[in-house]
Amino acid sequence: MKIVITKSKQEASLYVAEKLMNVLASKEHPTLGLATGGTPKGVYAELINAYTKNETSFHHAVTFNLDEYLGLDLNNKQGYAYYMQENLFKYVNFNPDNIHIPNGKASNPEKECQRYHELIKAHNDIDIQLLGIGTNGHIGFNEPSDQFYLATHITTLDEQTRKSNARYFDSLEAVPKRAITMGVGEIMDSREVVLLALGEAKQDIMEKLLNSKTVDPKLPASVLHLHRNLTVVMDEAAAKKYNKKVRT
Ligand code: PGA
Repeated sequence: MKIVITKSKQEASLYVAEKLMNVLASKEHPTLGLATGGTPKGVYAELINAYTKNETSFHHAVTFNLDEYLGLDLNNKQGYAYYMQENLFKYVNFNPDNIHIPNGKASNPEKECQRYHELIKAHNDIDIQLLGIGTNGHIGFNEPSDQFYLATHITTLDEQTRKSNARYFDSLEAVPKRAITMGVGEIMDSREVVLLALGEAKQDIMEKLLNSKTVDPKLPASVLHLHRNLTVVMDEAAAKKYNKKVRT
């Protein structure tokens, strides 16, 4: 595991964006695993900025998003398909046919999970997977549990997750109770993983994650200790309680 601590959110976002751009430049058909939430917004802003300066291109890339709420369709403003359009896709040159997000409105969600898993495998897994982390240690919507779920599956959202995400909805009641998420197996099969944690709200979970080497499904991100090509990127606020400092 490589740990990078930056002075600012912007520096951290630029560092991660550069990692994605390196993969974009190095492969004929790079496969990007993308995340949503507050954390990656700065990364996407840096990618858009680089694209407008002709420093990168997405025409050849394939994307797989981590998750989507069950019951929200493509145009729902709280959905992750909408989020991706608004925060990245509409500003750059992805081929829309190469963008993949679980369909939260699928008539048969179990089948949708199977389809998504097979699609990732058909693309020979993900080259670089971007992850945020929940304050409860979730990655994607792999919530604390007694077991790890390897493949894309339907998950019941933790109350802590629903409360954290209520800020994007009109009320806590409006936050869906279930979602489709990539499993930890597909995440671990990614050739490179970048976990980004920003802000003071993440300092406790990052201390817990980094100071324990135990792999425990009650802290889903802990599975990443077993990944061979993992970079953890934090700004100073997220790293505050973590004792070893490694500067960029
Ligand atoms: P956040 O969410 O980026 O909005 O903090 C991260 C996550 O839940 O994975």
